[in-house]
Formats: sequence, structure tokens, C-alpha cells
Amino acid sequence: MSATPIIKVTGLGKTVRLGQDSLTILEGISLQVNTGETLALVGASGSGKSTLLGLLAGLDLPTSGDIEILGQSLTRLDEEGRARLRAEQVGFIFQSFLLLPTLSALENVMLPAELRGETDCGPRARELLAQVGLSERLHHLPPRLSGGEQQRVAIARAFMTRPQLLLADEPTGNLDSKTGDTVIELLFRLNREHNTTLVVVTHDHELAQRCQRQLVMAAGRLEPEALAHEAARIRERL
Ligand SMILES: Nc1ncnc2c1ncn2[C@@H]1O[C@H](COP(=O)(O)OP(=O)(O)OP(=O)(O)O)[C@@H](O)[C@H]1O
Ligand SMILES: [Mg+2]
Repeated sequence: MSATPIIKVTGLGKTVRLGQDSLTILEGISLQVNTGETLALVGASGSGKSTLLGLLAGLDLPTSGDIEILGQSLTRLDEEGRARLRAEQVGFIFQSFLLLPTLSALENVMLPAELRGETDCGPRARELLAQVGLSERLHHLPPRLSGGEQQRVAIARAFMTRPQLLLADEPTGNLDSKTGDTVIELLFRLNREHNTTLVVVTHDHELAQRCQRQLVMAAGRLEPEALAHEAARIRERL
């Protein structure tokens, strides 16, 4: 079976304006991720991991380079096109959860499927919340949940639509080790059972090591070894 890239990033850069100055957050990033692969993005705080993940999700646009997700160029899609691709194919676990504060835990998990027009989403949402240990908190509003509980709701929500690609930013960052292990199991089960591609930003060594590949970021770039490795992989495929 030949490996097909689900993510293809070429010469990616992100620069933002700060008053008179400009700040380069990402520079010269090229990488490919194959369907069904698990990849950990690691590196120091501030090295650009969340920014890269946000660009992969089409939440923001790069200032240079291109990103293809499932053969579609994100820079050529308009905002609506990017939103559609995200709704249909991509799950995202944010570092800051982004739950809707006026919806209950259960309603937050059901929302992405309901937005796609699915009906009878309740049973699956309840099942996912049970898997992350929140059966007793279905009707809580996010402000009444602890940080780790909010994170678990966000994880259940990301799994709701069975995405082809799951982008997770520090999915175990606020969890105790037992709950963190449960979440890791869930991520890899999704990968195994649905061939979901996983890109995980993490400072958790154990989680990074469980991924098939690890790429190290430093000051907005991939580390040279990671770059050489990527170049070799891309050449192999030409
Ligand atoms: N919109 C923005 N405007 C200005 N600076 C930004 C913006 N977004 C990110 N940055 C800066 O870019 C750098 C990379 O940020 P990013 O959030 O991607 O880091 P990170 O690797 O995810 O770090 P952490 O491990 O702490 O989450 C940081 O120094 C941050 O301050
Ligand atoms: Mg981050």
C-alpha cells in the first residue's frame, strides 16, 4: 500500500506585525504527514508549535508557503472553504479548550455533529463523555468544570465527527497521569480503529515516544536533523 500524504507543507512561514516591527514566528517549514500516521511536534515554549498547528487547521493563513490538506490548498480556499474542510475532516483539541460557556458538556460535544446536520447525536456524545470519565458531568456548564474536565470535554468533542485528521495541542497538559493515560489510549485507539492521522503537540515525553515520528521545533524552524529527515522522506517519494 503506497503512503498518501494527508498533510503537505511547503516552505511555510508566518510573520506578524508588531507596531513598526515584524516578528517571524515560523520560517521555512516543509513536512509531509501520511494518512494514518502519528506525529509528535515537540520543542521549547514559544518555538511556534501552536502557531503551526493553527495553520494546519486553517484557522489562520501563512505569510509564505503553502499547506495542502487532503490535496486541497488551504491558501487557495476562502474562509468558508477552510471552515468546511475543517468541519468535515479535521478535529482540533486546542490548548485553551474553547468550549462554549453557555452550552452543557453534552451539548458542547454534540455541537460539531449537529452543525453537520446529523441527528440523534446524544448517544454517541454520552458514550464519548463516558470514555473520558465524565458521565456524571453531562449537564455541567464549562465554567463549573475543572480545567482537566474541560480538556476532556474538548477531547470528546474532537472525536465526535470521527475526523480523518486530529490535531491536538497539549492534550494531556492539564490532566493527572491516570486521566492523561486514558486520553492517550483514546487518541491511539482512534488512530488504530479509524486510521485517523494524529498530529500532537506535547511536552509529554511518553506521549511523544508513542508517536511513530517526532519533529523538534526551535525558534520557528524544524531542527536540522528533523529537516534532513523530512527532505529524505520527501525525496524517497518523488
Ligand atoms: N498573533 C501573534 N502576535 C505576536 N506574537 C505571536 C502571535 N502568535 C504567536 N506569537 C509568538 O510566537 C511565538 C510562538 O508561539 P506559539 O504559541 O506557537 O508557541 P508554542 O511553541 O506553542 O509554545 P508553548 O509550548 O508555550 O505553547 C511566541 O513567542 C509567541 O509570543
Ligand atoms: Mg502552544
